[in-house]
Amino acid sequence: MREVADQAGVSVATVSNALNRPEKVAEETRVRIQQVIDDSGFIRNGAAAQLRGMRSPSVALVVLDIDNPFFAQVSRGAEEAANESNHLVILCNSGGERDRESRQLRVLEEQRVAGILMAPAGHNSSRLYYEIRRRGTPIVLLDQRPERGDQCCVAVDDIEGGRLAGRHLVELGHRRIALINGPTVIAPCVDRRAGFLAALAEVGAELKPDDDIGVGAMTIAEGEAAAARLLSRPDPPTAIFCTNDLLALGAEHAALAARLAIPHDIAIVGYDDVAFTSMAFVPLTTVRQPAYALGYRAAHLLLDEVANPDHHHEGLLFTPELVVRESTTGIRAQHEIAG
Ligand code: RIB
Repeated sequence: MREVADQAGVSVATVSNALNRPEKVAEETRVRIQQVIDDSGFIRNGAAAQLRGMRSPSVALVVLDIDNPFFAQVSRGAEEAANESNHLVILCNSGGERDRESRQLRVLEEQRVAGILMAPAGHNSSRLYYEIRRRGTPIVLLDQRPERGDQCCVAVDDIEGGRLAGRHLVELGHRRIALINGPTVIAPCVDRRAGFLAALAEVGAELKPDDDIGVGAMTIAEGEAAAARLLSRPDPPTAIFCTNDLLALGAEHAALAARLAIPHDIAIVGYDDVAFTSMAFVPLTTVRQPAYALGYRAAHLLLDEVANPDHHHEGLLFTPELVVRESTTGIRAQHEIAG
């Protein structure tokens, strides 16, 4: 570090700032220092910096399912915000498994990441989260509301989202609507179900126990298997609300495999509005979450908590939006309506 400072004609402190707090160093000076570093082959020892108590210039993002395009959009938003503050994003996939998530959190704390964004694999008031935060690593909750209200979170009003889905199907005349839902340890699944049931209750309809399907993972395969079971019954439902788009795409596969027409024989609604929904075999009606904005705003809240001693915790709740496509209205239905 001293050799670099001497060659660049600056103090060691200025070299340190150029590496750790580049916003505090004039652009021309920072470029000259970086050029000397590149020419000298100097590589800062991040582990030594962390031994001196410094935080790594990185934040972690722990998602439930790396295969879900929703989290790809969330990750893109988080990475753009982190990049604005010269932070890297370390992506971890919990797969919805609590033990795996706990192992990841412990390693991230040991690596002294600046902070953690996470979509919790279960109830977000676990003791480990509390201990990690108490020891100085901030955690911002994604796609979930905090159960204690004492930390930053960014989510969508999933109760309203479930209500939008249910009300849309009810307004189309459906009264036998099935639900394919993810694990109820995941808060968004609880809220989407609650909103859906509220929409049914508004017209005196009910969710039959046989139509209330819970799956262990919110994947295409689980959605296809659950829908196949529903549709193979002598008296199948006329519509299915799936609490994410992967489940809904699976349900479409099952309907087409059973040679059922969507929506004429079975209407299907998803949740998220990920990129493929408009290009699905039958373009999917879904509830849009602003995934990029969730990730971007959550990362900004986290980095403010990291950098700002006067940080105040915030809970941001975005409003979902119903996106109507052929999987509920159908091109044929539109022609019929057109008369
Ligand atoms: O976080 C649980 C679910 O909410 C994810 O599967 C994602 O699709 C979002 O909708």
